Amino acid sequence: MDTETNLQLTADTIAQQIDGQSIDASLVLGSGLSDLDYLSGAKNSDKSGQNTDVLFESQYTEIPGMPTSTAPTHKGVLSVVKVGSLTLLVFQGRFHLYEGYSPRDAATTSYLSKALGAKQIIFTNAAGGLNPDLNPGDIMLVNDHINFTGQSPLTGNSDSDPSLRFPDMSRAYDPQLQALTLSCAKNLKLPLKQGIYAGVNGPELETSAERRHMRASGCDAIGMSLVMETIGAVHCGLEVLALSAITNVATGGADQPVDSIETILENADIAAKKLETLIPTVIQHLPKG
Ligand code: HPA
Repeated sequence: MDTETNLQLTADTIAQQIDGQSIDASLVLGSGLSDLDYLSGAKNSDKSGQNTDVLFESQYTEIPGMPTSTAPTHKGVLSVVKVGSLTLLVFQGRFHLYEGYSPRDAATTSYLSKALGAKQIIFTNAAGGLNPDLNPGDIMLVNDHINFTGQSPLTGNSDSDPSLRFPDMSRAYDPQLQALTLSCAKNLKLPLKQGIYAGVNGPELETSAERRHMRASGCDAIGMSLVMETIGAVHCGLEVLALSAITNVATGGADQPVDSIETILENADIAAKKLETLIPTVIQHLPKG
């Protein structure tokens, strides 16, 4: 089956399970962040005191048409959760280019969200700090990205409408969602950094020279996800918010530590605690579609 058919099959299956209710927004939880206890298993109320109710929960492997997530620490669980008056689609785990997925499959979270009616999509991910002002455990609001993968989910896309064939990416990360998030962080007294995300293929981590090159290109953080999904999201008309958990120093300087996945996951845990406070507050203030 082709990707479009698979996507429709997945969307139809989920829509049926939730009696055709429309999704308001989506949340994608990345490496080391997919345990955000706010949603995974929190059945009664979230950290902002809102009522939550899990309407649907399934392993990706059990959902017809869905690619399966193979990344370590990615649970591969999809849920539909009612939070206050909003219905959220929650992806615990995503699809990376480094797993061998096509760029279009790597953007499944966005296209599936759109097919189920979402207006906004919130991405979280783990990223290395290219900018020395970013410390492991920090959260960075993504203002923009540079796609270093050399790939696009829109390759071969033959939309006849030129604005769909060549989508405008000048404000890929929604300015209003960014302003909302900054204001929520301020009210919570939660330090929130901001910067530009460099998207790479992986799976190997970068050489120090590559990291210095990306820093010199104006990037603040680096990771192996997000860019395919954001391009897909903009293409299908979703408003995008992205928050990176800084999990390791990636300055490529003389003091560059040896990268270790253990350290990355430990710091993801620290950052996840901050996201557990911030994300429910942002969600509480999302405009209902
Ligand atoms: N590089 C790429 N991806 C990452 C990193 C990194 O340093 N840290 C977490 N994800």
